Amino acid sequence: MSITVGIIGCGNIARFHGDGLARIGARVAWACDLDAAASASFAQRTGARATADHRQVLADPTVDAVVITTVSRAHRVLCLDAIAAGKAVICEKTLAENPDDALAIVRAAEAAGTVFFTSYMKRFIPAVERAKELMPRLGRIIASNVRAWQPWGDLWTAMPESGLGHTPPGGVSGVVRAYGGGVLTCGGSHIADLVLHLLGRPTRAYASMTVLSGRDYDLQATALLETANGPVTLSAIAHPLSRIGFLGDGWDERIEIIGTRGTLEVRSSLWDDPEHKASLLVHYDEATGTSTEHRFRPESPFARADAAFVADIAARSQRVQSRWTGYEADELLAAITRSARSGQAVAIDWRSPAVS
Ligand SMILES: NC(=O)c1ccc[n+]([C@@H]2O[C@H](COP(=O)([O-])OP(=O)(O)OC[C@H]3O[C@@H](n4cnc5c(N)ncnc54)[C@H](O)[C@@H]3O)[C@@H](O)[C@H]2O)c1
Repeated sequence: MSITVGIIGCGNIARFHGDGLARIGARVAWACDLDAAASASFAQRTGARATADHRQVLADPTVDAVVITTVSRAHRVLCLDAIAAGKAVICEKTLAENPDDALAIVRAAEAAGTVFFTSYMKRFIPAVERAKELMPRLGRIIASNVRAWQPWGDLWTAMPESGLGHTPPGGVSGVVRAYGGGVLTCGGSHIADLVLHLLGRPTRAYASMTVLSGRDYDLQATALLETANGPVTLSAIAHPLSRIGFLGDGWDERIEIIGTRGTLEVRSSLWDDPEHKASLLVHYDEATGTSTEHRFRPESPFARADAAFVADIAARSQRVQSRWTGYEADELLAAITRSARSGQAVAIDWRSPAVS
């Protein structure tokens, strides 16, 4: 069964969802954006109707679900309105700008029985899916490293005069306005989610973060996380190096896990060119003494995620991922930030039932 959706937020990321939804035959009935030019252009490409008012989308009885791809600070209101209107929700990450808002959203979805997903699409990268399947073959997990080292240009030597990295005196930078934070929020949120997905909830965090003078966003965040599956080091870095990483394109994002019976290493490829660049998985198995490289064809994880979410929405069933995913990531990011600011290790106060 196919479904009818409204897209709320027609900026950069919306096209990845639009393409994914088209591939599985979901009907996009509405393109909604406060910016009329953005909604008109998206509507023209998809055959949807354009509007600036999300309430018009929610009032349409033919709409089964909304895909919320606005800037993160708008997610709370949009998610709560969609839940109240009885629509299923796929919301871009980060779910909110803080864990309190994320908690309020997910509690409302739980109470209403809404099929609700935060789209951390990297869970659907084939190399990550295979790594998750292979986890039981590692034996007892000893330790892990996760990193998102992303090429943001040289923001380290001088403040840019314009663009996302410019913080006006006393004002707010573009990166904070659009995404709610610096590299920890933008890139670190994905690897924080993958820690939760593969290794479970950390109980404590000890972190360090670099926010240069005159800026309102971090360029580096590193944390030591304690989990039931051993210690995890997490590092998110916005760097000026153009050729590092396994594809030589400046993108160096990895998950490395060592256990008593083997290791797993995922090297994920640049997120906005998923049709051309595939991620890599290497599994070392102590039983055979061999390392196996798992190579996959390039494929959009947005499309794979949307296909899985839409199947659940059509079945009115929350199977592929918990409602709590977005809250958990926001709670972990907040703990890392709190630790970095205080210079102390912090216990993480999970305010929802544990999910796998
Ligand atoms: N999964 C990923 O790898 C990834 C990558 C980049 C961005 N994102 C996330 O996607 C979301 C959007 O990011 P983007 O880069 O597309 O931002 P963007 O600024 O390009 O687009 C957001 C759009 O939302 C619109 N908007 C804001 N408030 C609205 C409202 N109340 N109603 C209707 N439209 C509204 C804006 O006018 C804008 O056109 C953010 O949550 C961001 O964190 C995810």
